[in-house]
Amino acid sequence: MALALADAPAPALRIGDLELSSPILVAPMAGITDVPFRRIAMEMGAGLVCTEMVAAEAVVRSVEASLRLLQFPDDTRPVAAQLVGSDPAVMAAAAQVCAERGAMAVDVNLGCPVRKVVGLGCGAALARDVAATARVLAAIVDAVDVPVTAKMRLGWDQGSINAPLLARSLADVGVGAVTVHGRTRCQGYAGWADWREIAGVRAAVDIPVFGSGDLRDPEQIAHHIESGHVDGVVIARGMLGNFWLVRQAAHRLATGENLPDLPFVERIELGRRHLEELIAHYGEARALRIGRKYVAWTIKGCDGASRLRAMVQDLDSRERLDAIYAEALAAGERPEGPYQPIFTSGEG
Ligand SMILES: Cc1cc2nc3c(=O)[nH]c(=O)nc-3n(C[C@H](O)[C@H](O)[C@H](O)COP(=O)(O)O)c2cc1C
Repeated sequence: MALALADAPAPALRIGDLELSSPILVAPMAGITDVPFRRIAMEMGAGLVCTEMVAAEAVVRSVEASLRLLQFPDDTRPVAAQLVGSDPAVMAAAAQVCAERGAMAVDVNLGCPVRKVVGLGCGAALARDVAATARVLAAIVDAVDVPVTAKMRLGWDQGSINAPLLARSLADVGVGAVTVHGRTRCQGYAGWADWREIAGVRAAVDIPVFGSGDLRDPEQIAHHIESGHVDGVVIARGMLGNFWLVRQAAHRLATGENLPDLPFVERIELGRRHLEELIAHYGEARALRIGRKYVAWTIKGCDGASRLRAMVQDLDSRERLDAIYAEALAAGERPEGPYQPIFTSGEG
């Protein structure tokens, strides 16, 4: 009997009819989760990747820059598109465009804390009004055949935590899963995500709940899932400069074994590979500009990183990139200090 239990395959995690190969998902991140980033994340074993948030208004007006964010090549699937907006009809029409272009799920941003967005009644501001949010999500569920999900914060501030109520209302209108970032809008990125509050959302609904906030260690990620706080996680800042975290977390969950950290030389190889993907996608000049932040994050843990970061600031050729990586390798890695998140702000 014990053997039969041990051999039984883990129950599949599903969002609607979309079956996920792993509960380790990649968070939407503005300016980050483009096609090259998502491709490498999928290679690392992510169960689902997501675009950055895209304004629904711009999608329905066919703004070229927004449509460019909605590209879904075969090797980056399964993939979700994230929309931000507040008008049910506009959101429904934009969701149809996403699905027509190949998105396998549509996610709605209910957590963006940025003034420009909340000032329009979108992101975290929309989530304050549970009934209005449910109307938006219901319109999208009616408009598309793919699963519809939502990503929220705990609430607007400590005095108005509404994530459990919001999640229940969204489940009632057919939303297939929710992600909860364990901070309030007013917290921004300060302090630590509250995983007890996230677990409270999971206890309140029958749909899968994914947790977000301060995930940077495979053991910690496995703990949240294995102890039932959440059905899965979405990784964000912890994987910047360290795609390998996705592989480590997915492997730890699938096998119970810990994969060692990637040796510095291999981390640099992965960083180089990411730059090549960016060049193939954007062309060399633009890719090298976009790629500067990734190079800086990749060499973060090496001796003399601050001097090398100055070289990265005007990275404009492959030769210079090779020189930076060669110097980083020659300098070698220094023992990691305490984890420092790369961004202390963001759009969700
Ligand atoms: C640079 C950056 C951009 C972000 N953009 C988005 C976004 O477009 N949509 C969204 O829902 N969340 C966005 N977020 C929030 C993340 O998805 C995540 O919920 C948050 O960073 C907490 O996770 P972490 O502590 O592991 O980084 C962004 C975060 C960062 C740092």
